Amino acid sequence: MSRSYVVGLIVILLVIVVEATPPGIADHPSHSHCSDDEIKKCKNLPHVCPKFCPNGCITECRSCKPICIDGPSPSPPPPTPYHPHPPQSPPPTPGHPHPPKSPKKVKCKSKDKKHSKCYNQEHTCPSTCPGTCKVDCVSCKPVCSCDKPGAVCQDPRFIGADGITFYFHGKKDKDFCLVSDSNLHINGHFIGKRNENMKRDFTWVQAIGILYDTHNISVGALKTATWDDAIDRLYLNFDGESILLPENEGARWQSETRPTTSITRTSDTNEIIIEVENILKITAKVVPITEEESRVHNYGITEDDCFAHLELGFKFFALSDEVSGVLGQTYRRNYVSRVKMGVLMPVMGGDKEFSASGLFNADCSVAKFQAVNEGLLNNLEIPNLKCSSGMSGRGVVCRR
Ligand SMILES: *[C@@H]1O[C@H](CO)[C@@H](O)[C@H](O)[C@H]1NC(C)=O
Repeated sequence: MSRSYVVGLIVILLVIVVEATPPGIADHPSHSHCSDDEIKKCKNLPHVCPKFCPNGCITECRSCKPICIDGPSPSPPPPTPYHPHPPQSPPPTPGHPHPPKSPKKVKCKSKDKKHSKCYNQEHTCPSTCPGTCKVDCVSCKPVCSCDKPGAVCQDPRFIGADGITFYFHGKKDKDFCLVSDSNLHINGHFIGKRNENMKRDFTWVQAIGILYDTHNISVGALKTATWDDAIDRLYLNFDGESILLPENEGARWQSETRPTTSITRTSDTNEIIIEVENILKITAKVVPITEEESRVHNYGITEDDCFAHLELGFKFFALSDEVSGVLGQTYRRNYVSRVKMGVLMPVMGGDKEFSASGLFNADCSVAKFQAVNEGLLNNLEIPNLKCSSGMSGRGVVCRR
């Protein structure tokens, strides 16, 4: 072997090694880690972003996997084209009654020491989600709320706990089990339009029904003809009673029963967060189908109904490994995605196995929910007791 041959070989090897650092990592050497205290197994384990993540990544704690911000695959065209720097004299857009608003500004509000560098820094929502993003305090980047694991948005596009995006079309005017576990069950009510060409319905999630312990919550979008952001089109029910929240950001309702359940407005209208202590946190936003979206996707939306529906973000704190449902199954530790990878619209089948007979009926074939026997619970509780915190906050004092 000649000397120059060896040198040449080394040079080639070096080039290969250099090239092996994918451009995504070279440009964004973002490492990420799970910062969720509840998930010890994954907490603070460093992860390197996959090379196909152009905008960095975050780590989903339950699956303990790094997931791209903005998603790895090209997403369908955004409904309303948005220009960060509009030209000096923007051309008039005929037939566009609501010009795109400037994107929302968001901040990391976590006071945790680990996030001190990011705390209160202002970020602008990406053009793909000008109105709905949050700062991921770990990577300190704005992330579209619909691009995070646990999201259910649009014509329902799901992002599983494994970070894999899929579509589940279901059927219009029917209910489907989204999550089912022994102490938690969530059904979604689908609305939509028949699409004759595709032999399936275009669908959206209009409402969800949640069952846990002996309680139930429903959240939904009211049928709406013409959309106006300033008009609240949300309805809320807890244990069969409707909840009326004043229309201002921060308005909060809390249950008197355990586990503590609260509903808080995160905007003056149409946006809330539902929290059930130690069980879940759900963000819900009512959105319409815009004329633009209807045109781009050929939904055929008419003036009498804008198909107001929910954009949802789920977070769970106590799922078992038996959890099932369209979204729920993806939270099992050993879950292997059933959807076909590498296609633009991977579809989750299984209309039959996930189909339920009503918003509150945990009767799909994969259901796991065990309704707590209310009679039994009532017998254990002594009625008509007034309870308050005991001396120095220890224990509970009850009086008849
Ligand atoms: C919801 O809770 C209320 C109060 O406990 C109960 O009367 C009602 O039957 C429940 N609805 C469902 C569908 O479980």
